[in-house]
Amino acid sequence: MKKIDWETYKDIYPDRYIKKSPFDDMVSSYISMLNFLSQMQIVILEIGGGINGSISEEYSKYNHCYLLDPFITNCPKEYIDKVNWDVNFKFDLIVCRGAFNYLSINEIKSIVGLLKPKGLFIFNTFSSPSEGTRTYEKDGLHAGYETTILEKNILKHELHRDNGDIISHDIIFYTSSEIEGFFEHSLITKESNNNSDYYIIRKTK
Ligand SMILES: C[S@@+](CC[C@H](N)C(=O)[O-])C[C@H]1O[C@@H](n2cnc3c(N)ncnc32)[C@H](O)[C@@H]1O
Repeated sequence: MKKIDWETYKDIYPDRYIKKSPFDDMVSSYISMLNFLSQMQIVILEIGGGINGSISEEYSKYNHCYLLDPFITNCPKEYIDKVNWDVNFKFDLIVCRGAFNYLSINEIKSIVGLLKPKGLFIFNTFSSPSEGTRTYEKDGLHAGYETTILEKNILKHELHRDNGDIISHDIIFYTSSEIEGFFEHSLITKESNNNSDYYIIRKTK
C-alpha cells in the first residue's frame, strides 16, 4: 500500500476528479466579476491547487495568483509564487478546489484572516460522504477500481490500479453545520450541484 503523492495525483487519479466542473465556471465568473468591479487585476490565493493550479490560464495570466500547497514543490506556470500558511499579505479572492477536505480545522479557520476586507473565499466540498466500490477510468480507459469506507468523520479512500499498486489517502468529512460554524462572522452563500456544495464566504469587515 502506497500513500498518495500529490505531485503525481493528476496523472493517476480518476478522470472524474480532474475534469472541469461547474465549480470551475463559477470561479471564472467570480474572477471576471471582481476584475470588472475593481477595473484592475486582483490578488488571488489558490489553496491546494496541485501541480498546475486550477485557475484557468486566461485568468491566472491576467491576475496575480499565488499557490498555497505544502505538498507541491514548484510554482505553477502563470502563478507568481508559492506561499505557506503563514503568508503575511492579503488576498481579494481565495479559491480552494477539491482540497477543502484535506485542511485542518485550524487551517480553515485562518482563511478569512487572509482576505482583504470584503474579500471572497470560494470552495467546493461534498454534501454527504458516499461509501462503496466503483471502477475507475483514466484517459477514458479502465484503470482499476476505488473503494471508500467511512470511519467516524474520515473517508478512507483506496485506489486499486490495474498495475497492482494500491494508493491510499484520507478525506475529512465536514458537515454543513460544522462549515457554517467555521465562518460564523462572515456572509455564507451555498449552491448545491448533485452531491457537491459550492460555498462563497464573504468577509464582512
Ligand atoms: C485532490 S487534490 C486537488 C488538486 C486540484 N485543486 C484539483 O482540483 O485538481 C488536493 C490538493 O490539496 C493539497 N493539500 C493537501 N493538504 C493540504 C493542506 N493542509 N494545505 C494546503 N493544501 C493541501 C494537496 O497537495 C493537493 O494538491
